[in-house]
Amino acid sequence: MRILMTGSTDGLGRTAVETLLATGHDVVAHARTADRAAALDALTARGAGLVVGDFEDREAVVRIAAELTEQDPLDAIIHNAGVHTGRAVMPVNVIAPYLLTALIDGPRRHIYLSSGSHYGGHPVLDGVDWRGTTAGSYGDSKLFVTTLVAALARLRPDLLVHAVDPGWVPTRMGGPNAPDDLDLGHETQIWLATSDDPGVLASGGYWYHRQRREPHGAVHDEHFQDRLLRTLAGETGVALPGR
Ligand SMILES: NC(=O)c1ccc[n+]([C@@H]2O[C@H](COP(=O)([O-])OP(=O)(O)OC[C@H]3O[C@@H](n4cnc5c(N)ncnc54)[C@H](OP(=O)(O)O)[C@@H]3O)[C@@H](O)[C@H]2O)c1
Repeated sequence: MRILMTGSTDGLGRTAVETLLATGHDVVAHARTADRAAALDALTARGAGLVVGDFEDREAVVRIAAELTEQDPLDAIIHNAGVHTGRAVMPVNVIAPYLLTALIDGPRRHIYLSSGSHYGGHPVLDGVDWRGTTAGSYGDSKLFVTTLVAALARLRPDLLVHAVDPGWVPTRMGGPNAPDDLDLGHETQIWLATSDDPGVLASGGYWYHRQRREPHGAVHDEHFQDRLLRTLAGETGVALPGR
């Protein structure tokens, strides 16, 4: 399969790209900047493709979508790039995956990195600073992306979409003392992107270590889902195809 992994220079994204290459998949890696792309030299030497762009910059996300549309079609995107704090939270964790989903026509599977922190998120869209002029709430961003998954599962039966909580794992974001397992933390998103197991083929799951779990109650609220899609379309000027 041909799979785009956003945020491949470090942590879970990088580990997942290494595993995908080792198991014979065709991978497009992604780096925030040309300097950071140097961290991917060993992976591009093994055949990984590369796109470069800072997800804080919407125009860079749109450019990457256009570049990928010109290339061989993707089978899946793993929307992995993320930040935990600061002004980039909403642009990187929500706006970028939304735009890539809306603008790249082709990949049937979309896997989004969520977090157990989404349970602490607030299902409130009024006043969200989508452009990141102030620090954003990580829990809110992961609640929104998990709700995006449920909305897509309902409205886009042509797609196969899932959200994944990788656990609290020892990456740069998770810190060295994170208690969960890095292998288990990167493996579920690969399984969801590549497997034809019956559980995987039921779109719209929220997963932790290959177990489907019940997300925050707001995720299943269709009014909240619709408001989120309207808000993201209004904010970006880009609607999901068919909406
Ligand atoms: N680690 C955990 O315990 C944990 C728990 C729950 C969920 N998650 C989620 O899992 C995903 C991966 O996290 P991780 O732990 O692997 O984090 P990480 O080690 O900090 O890696 C994050 C990746 O995202 C990229 N990125 C950050 N800002 C970006 C931007 N503005 N534009 C483009 N790319 C950007 C980083 O690029 P640079 O290297 O250039 O900064 C890096 O490749 C995230 O979505 C995170 O929210 C992680």
